[in-house]
Amino acid sequence: MKRRQFLASSGLAMAGGLSGLSLLPRRAEASPLSLVIQPARYALEGAVTEGMVSLSPDGPPPVLRLRRGETFVAEVTNTLEDYTAMHWHGLRVPNVMDGVPYLTQVPMGPGDSYRYEFTPQDAGTFWYHPHCNTMAQMARGLTGVLIVEDDEDPGFDLDLPVNLRDWRLGDDSQFIDLFTARGAARAGTHGTVMTANWQQEPVYDAPAGGLVRLRLVATDTTRIYRVQLPGAEGQIIAVDGHPVEEDVPMPTEGAPLILGPGQRADIALRIPGQEGAELVVLNEQPGRARTLLTLRATGADRGRALDELRPLSANPIAMPDLSQAETIEFVFGWSPEQSSENNGFCGTLGYTFWSINRTAWPGDASGTGPLAVLERGKTYVLRLRNESPNDHPIHLHGLLFMPLASNQRYVPANWTDTAMLLEQEVMDVVLVADNPGDWAFHCHVIEHQKSGLTGYLRVT
Ligand code: C2O
Ligand code: CU
Ligand code: CU
Repeated sequence: MKRRQFLASSGLAMAGGLSGLSLLPRRAEASPLSLVIQPARYALEGAVTEGMVSLSPDGPPPVLRLRRGETFVAEVTNTLEDYTAMHWHGLRVPNVMDGVPYLTQVPMGPGDSYRYEFTPQDAGTFWYHPHCNTMAQMARGLTGVLIVEDDEDPGFDLDLPVNLRDWRLGDDSQFIDLFTARGAARAGTHGTVMTANWQQEPVYDAPAGGLVRLRLVATDTTRIYRVQLPGAEGQIIAVDGHPVEEDVPMPTEGAPLILGPGQRADIALRIPGQEGAELVVLNEQPGRARTLLTLRATGADRGRALDELRPLSANPIAMPDLSQAETIEFVFGWSPEQSSENNGFCGTLGYTFWSINRTAWPGDASGTGPLAVLERGKTYVLRLRNESPNDHPIHLHGLLFMPLASNQRYVPANWTDTAMLLEQEVMDVVLVADNPGDWAFHCHVIEHQKSGLTGYLRVT
């Protein structure tokens, strides 16, 4: 609900006196955003791809822009023939709004609706996606960017959200197998067509000499992006939704910016002053770099400088108390046996390959019992131990955590909801368990999540 609408509705309630108040409770006055999960078709390349999933019949899921402190209400309706539920990745919402089937809500069957309502407390770059039938629905399109605006405009000339994702299409532009068993047991099954905002190598006009906020959002089910910005003058101002507390260097030759599935980077860029000059965003891949998108300088030189930008709004994050912290270890590895229980409502890959603490957990609907029970308000160190030869972007719902140390590399101390855990890496992260509920905890390579690498933490 917009502030303006809220003022109007509370005015109405007051005019009606006390009886008016009871007849017009505030919530009934909110005009919810209606989001309809539906089949879609769209030309990602030559021919139109059928069998996509979006929030409109013929285009990508919209960028949702929310304001901090203003209640967001969305009536989400499912018109698919399968179950679904919507999750707001990275947002610290009340548990019942988190969209995890059976853990926080009953999933929506065909024709069902669910009313999501929450008030964002953090400004930054987030995203949304289903948490039921994730493989089928995300791979077919249902991943969108969600922005919570800063309280004060930092002063950019252009704000450009970029939804990075791939598609598994055959020569006829139609979907092929969304995953393979071989991929699921290793690094995941990569797409065949790479896009930014559902376009291949789009070119965006940007004011010459102006300042752009590039919001890169890795929503692919598998790909770990290795971003390069050759020759760019810029600064990474936020990672995974939160302003950086410790500098993250701009990518350089041999040291790309790594963005695993679920991760985000907000980059302040200064566009070259000369009209027509181009700034290319690349993904490093074996053999050659691929263009993700291009920014082209247009118009007269605005002569802006990066240091003109105002700082991003700080987010209210509880300070951990390391002196009191308890350490809990989680081991991510192979699945010991085909032990996944799957209730069948949210889709199964038909295999279990992965495990947390040597138990393979069932897919989207997070299983039988919590991996750990955390006491509300206390500080915990989670020791994330990767006993596998693959990388895993480890994501936790509802809470924020910060890396402390790794056995392999220096990890900057920045708040996140998704940490890249490299092969064989052991990383300690710290959090304050300040949001009660059952919070899903999983790898964001969807094939890993769906074949065992998922569970949940309980905050009581
Ligand atoms: Cu981005 Cu459990 O989700
Ligand atoms: Cu999430
Ligand atoms: Cu994984």
